[in-house]
Amino acid sequence: MSNRGNKPLKVALLGCGVVGGEVVRLLHEQAEDLTARIGAPLELAGIAVRRPGRNRGELPVPDSIFTTDPLALVKRDDVDIVVEVVGGIEPARTWLTEALRSGKSVVTANKALLAEDGATLHDAAAESGADLYYEAAVAGAIPLLRPLRESLHGDTITRVTGIVNGTTNYILSKMCATGAGFSEALDEATALGYAEADPTADVEGFDAAAKAAILASLAFHTRVTGADVYREGITEVTAADVASAAAMGCVVKLLCIADRTENGVAVRVHPAMIPSTHPLASVGDAFNAVFVEAEAAGQLMFYGRGAGGAPTASAVLGDIVAVARNRIAGVSARSESSYADLRIQPMGEIVTRYHISLDVADKAGVLAAVAGVFARHGVSISTVKQSGRGNDAVLVVVTHTATDAALAATVAELRGMDMVREVASVMRVES
Ligand code: HSE
Repeated sequence: MSNRGNKPLKVALLGCGVVGGEVVRLLHEQAEDLTARIGAPLELAGIAVRRPGRNRGELPVPDSIFTTDPLALVKRDDVDIVVEVVGGIEPARTWLTEALRSGKSVVTANKALLAEDGATLHDAAAESGADLYYEAAVAGAIPLLRPLRESLHGDTITRVTGIVNGTTNYILSKMCATGAGFSEALDEATALGYAEADPTADVEGFDAAAKAAILASLAFHTRVTGADVYREGITEVTAADVASAAAMGCVVKLLCIADRTENGVAVRVHPAMIPSTHPLASVGDAFNAVFVEAEAAGQLMFYGRGAGGAPTASAVLGDIVAVARNRIAGVSARSESSYADLRIQPMGEIVTRYHISLDVADKAGVLAAVAGVFARHGVSISTVKQSGRGNDAVLVVVTHTATDAALAATVAELRGMDMVREVASVMRVES
């Protein structure tokens, strides 16, 4: 296992939490193999942390390697590769922009930054010709961005549908399997360490929306930001929705869906009912999976662990090896291709099917009046199911495809009707 005489490549690690610690361990444990695979040894130049004295378990590095000055570490002339596993917009953007502008290779897992202001990083990388790799930013261990960025670059991707948030997939899988409500399933996810103390980013869909923006940008050669992604979380999903889905042969999943249509690109994150026979329906627990459809390749499925120290570190290490090889070869890869610059479609234009549950008065003419509202907005009803509840009834309406704008207008009118006590839930149905 020789390094063919190349001098060591110096790695600056920004952040040493769950993922960073695993990166350090893997760099140490696999040093010989990595040297052979790259053609030069990797050497940790420094690890920037906020609290150097914090207990990080047994890490195979001397205490002197830790610094509290990430920018100084990034600016060091001997550093070749900057690895960022801190997250957040600032100061990460400042560190990474500085690294890229000075020609250092960057490996980052920072989905929030890439989704909010990926342009700044991509532009800095393009100007200096530096590498910017971010496989760990979406779906943890799953090799997904490289296939989108390289393997499928000769094809036209038409749709990406994914389960890209493990916390919400765990919660929804529990709700579907046990009939539990959202709060009960969230409590269980928290107790098992799948949900963070503040689960907002996961359960409200912000985490998935950032990942959706990154996936759509790569898939459609168009810059899509987090703000371009329509987002709904899972906090309003009820046990009744899950039961109603089951009665239709469906399960409820938090999906990210990125479509290329003749009118542009549409990217959204929301809970949806999908048939139990859909490949994503069987993705349970905290696993992630992404289903890609391309004109020539057809359907492709990527599945694996989307979070956790070791799985995410695997993706980071893969990127480190790639950028290290590029440095030795004196080349770099394009971090994005946004030439297509497709129009971002507003949610109102999206066409899908809907499941609407209404609490209504149970008396003559109600069904006709409700059906009339759907008809007035051009929303065609596929099925209606009514169950009595004393003087009231629950009406479950499933529509044929309609635009989101037409459905929203329908729901707004239903909400204003005296005979409709409540629009209990509205959920999209994807096939
Ligand atoms: N919190 C994320 C999830 C993992 O639950 O999938 C990191 O992106």
